Amino acid sequence: EQAETTARKRVLLAKPRGYCAGVDRAVITVEKALDTYGAPVYVRKEIVHNKHVVQTLQDRGVIFVDETDEVPEGALVVFSAHGVSPAVHEEAERRGLRTIDATCPLVTKVHQEARRFARDDYDILLIGHEGHEEVEGTAGEAPDHVQLVDRPEDVAKVEVRDPSKVIWLSQTTLSVDETMERVDQLKERFPELRDPPSDDICYATQNRQVAVKAMAAECELVLVVGSQNSSNSKRLVEVAVQSGSDAAYLIDFAREIDESWLDGVTTVGVTSGASVPDVLVLGVLDYLAERGWGEVEEVTTANEKITFALPRELRQAMSDVR
Ligand code: F3S
Repeated sequence: EQAETTARKRVLLAKPRGYCAGVDRAVITVEKALDTYGAPVYVRKEIVHNKHVVQTLQDRGVIFVDETDEVPEGALVVFSAHGVSPAVHEEAERRGLRTIDATCPLVTKVHQEARRFARDDYDILLIGHEGHEEVEGTAGEAPDHVQLVDRPEDVAKVEVRDPSKVIWLSQTTLSVDETMERVDQLKERFPELRDPPSDDICYATQNRQVAVKAMAAECELVLVVGSQNSSNSKRLVEVAVQSGSDAAYLIDFAREIDESWLDGVTTVGVTSGASVPDVLVLGVLDYLAERGWGEVEEVTTANEKITFALPRELRQAMSDVR
């Protein structure tokens, strides 16, 4: 009797989730740099925004620094997946550092767009989060042409020289819906605002949001595995709530789950940000299975096949060593 009235507990597991091609490439780059050159390898900023990944690499002899001036002359430094401004490259060169650039090729694409439209003397409205490393790198390509648009109130503050020569670009890891809202607001002020030549929000960010949307309405709780400084992971939490889950939380590890979140919950959605190794998701699934949510159903909205070649300077070094 009781069993019939009790709804079946289950987990919906989003796919795609976790590592994107740019993160995979950046992490492998640091691992191969360690193999090829030996420790220590310096990395400017967190290679990807994930606590577990950073700790694991630290244990293997990676030294994370905030700026290249903390790297000893002549040492090897890897630039993170989020990209760096030309000024950082110049500073590294001035200091005689050996560099490997692990910037995601899809971030490099946005840098190229910024350079191209600055060369054509456009005002560039860069939609993104103030203080995020990616935005600093992209804006640094054309500091005189770029204005950052973050919150809705920033739209009114924008000033352009010629309203017929304005383009918007964006950070790669934003909420698709929120970005389009911001673009609509900007177009009310600047009807001739040009769209980027191709999507700046990357395939991985978009796919992970689509997958969460597909399952959130059926969930009372969504657990997003990811770090607090991971932009795309934070967007997944927001999208989960906007798409119908009663609650959503961002956690780095299963041990951060508060048991009370599960009170009265039947269906738990699980996903992870683009910088998250799947072993952390497995930890969450184990935690849930131990508490009765052992039935896992994958909700697949796309199959990702993209991979990126390792940075040229690393491939070169690896073949020299052989
Ligand atoms: Fe690149 Fe998108 Fe991943 S920009 S690093 S593929 S989240």
